Amino acid sequence: MRVKIFDTTLRDGEQSPGASMSVEEKVEVALMLEHLGVDLIEAGFPVSSPVQFKGVRKVAERVRKATVVALARCVEKDIDAAYEALKENKNRMIHVFIATSPIHRKYKLGMEKEEILERIRKYVSYAKKYSEFVEFSAEDASRTELPFLLEVVKTAIEAGASTVNIPDTVGYAIPEEFGAMIKAIKEGVPRIENVDLSVHCHNDLGLALANSIAAVRSGATQVEVTLNGIGERAGNCALEEFVMAAKVRKDILGFETGVDPALLYPASRLLVHITGMIPSRNKAIVGENVFLHESGIHQDGVLKMRETYEIMKPSDVGRSSETLVMGRHSGKHALKKKLETYGIHIDAERFQKVFERFLELADKKKEVYDDDLLSIVSEVLREPLRGYKLTHFHVYTGNTVIPTATVKLHAGEEGKDAAETGDGPIDAIFRAIDRVTGLATRLEEYVIQAVGSGKNAQGEVKLTLQIGQGRYSGRGVSTDIVEASAMAYVNAINKYLLAKKGAFEKGVAKEGGGHDIGSKDTGTEGWQEQS
Ligand code: KIV
Ligand code: ZN
Repeated sequence: MRVKIFDTTLRDGEQSPGASMSVEEKVEVALMLEHLGVDLIEAGFPVSSPVQFKGVRKVAERVRKATVVALARCVEKDIDAAYEALKENKNRMIHVFIATSPIHRKYKLGMEKEEILERIRKYVSYAKKYSEFVEFSAEDASRTELPFLLEVVKTAIEAGASTVNIPDTVGYAIPEEFGAMIKAIKEGVPRIENVDLSVHCHNDLGLALANSIAAVRSGATQVEVTLNGIGERAGNCALEEFVMAAKVRKDILGFETGVDPALLYPASRLLVHITGMIPSRNKAIVGENVFLHESGIHQDGVLKMRETYEIMKPSDVGRSSETLVMGRHSGKHALKKKLETYGIHIDAERFQKVFERFLELADKKKEVYDDDLLSIVSEVLREPLRGYKLTHFHVYTGNTVIPTATVKLHAGEEGKDAAETGDGPIDAIFRAIDRVTGLATRLEEYVIQAVGSGKNAQGEVKLTLQIGQGRYSGRGVSTDIVEASAMAYVNAINKYLLAKKGAFEKGVAKEGGGHDIGSKDTGTEGWQEQS
């Protein structure tokens, strides 16, 4: 049996703190997911913000094989926005949802059961006017009384849903219980065999994969997943875990997916570079440690017979390409081919920028690893966000002097410089940047790590700034960690400026990532589109 993979990295995944993506970044992730072989791509929640709307529209324009999905509440304006964003793509699906559990009915919606059923009837058929494919989700289904859930599913099918989704919204279900619920739906709802029965499991108890598998074994035909398991709170069932469980334990499970396992690791790395969210070292399939053997007994076993301690080969999930190196003599063609292995098809202008930066880096580092390339691509994709560009910096530091930094930032043609002292070179450069922008910022989080391995690995800085009422994350990568820090700082400021500019233009106070815009900040005068 072939299980459909509904990927929601760009919607539920993007809802996790720190994972918000620009429109360009969403398009690249969507193309990579399509290349991977997922069946459906949920691209966002169009009514929630102009950035979300544009993201879904662009993904719908570019993706051709996979079905593109947009989320909507049981509300007319949400469904209209979903249709508007998807309309260029015939292979579209509108996903409408409403909560059904007693706690959500009473405290969140203030609705009786009959009102919920009425909304399902009304809005599933409303969405059906726009799209042949409509998915209905009963939010918090796993905490809904079974007899009512059966009525909900029946009502959605009668109203025209082509897929019915049973979410374990708060990650509360236990595999046996969840499997039994799916079986009861399969056996108790008329015409259920005519629709896809989907599940969407969150990982609050670490059971998202087990629950998804139990559901499929009880008759679910689709699973909703995210790459690296990102998503609200503890995240969603991880795409790579589901695909590999199906492959490695086909003997017991007996189902398969259309995803190419050999692209899982490259896809995971692309997402890491785009969002800056790094899976834990022991994260199944894609974590740093999962093919390393530390103890002598294990090493001895693996050397004698790999299968003693490995149930899959690194190459099964595409991990052999980690070591593939490009050098300064690799030409454009080789670079293009390399990017294509990640499903990356950037436009000619961006490709040229990536190529130039690759050459610069190859000069500095000699060997450029896949991770370096992906960090260049994600850097180039972030660029349209830039209002300020870091053009020069100098730092003067040591243990017997006061660290001092000078920076020059450009906003379009106009350059401005400033100097400041600080507790250390990084503090000094951040203060100098604040002096140029005139913004009051507070550094909330600062993380630095190496990209790749070896002494000449690049440094990647990820930080979060509080500006006004909002929090903005920024990233920067360079062989110089002071420069990487300054780039990350400027990147966060530019996200703030983009959000503020969007808020002024559209009369809304939210950016795609859901950051609130403070009222006492300075203006958007630093803003210049540079794409
Ligand atoms: O977790 C959930 O219930 C959701 C729905 C919108 C499908 O994300
Ligand atoms: Zn969810």
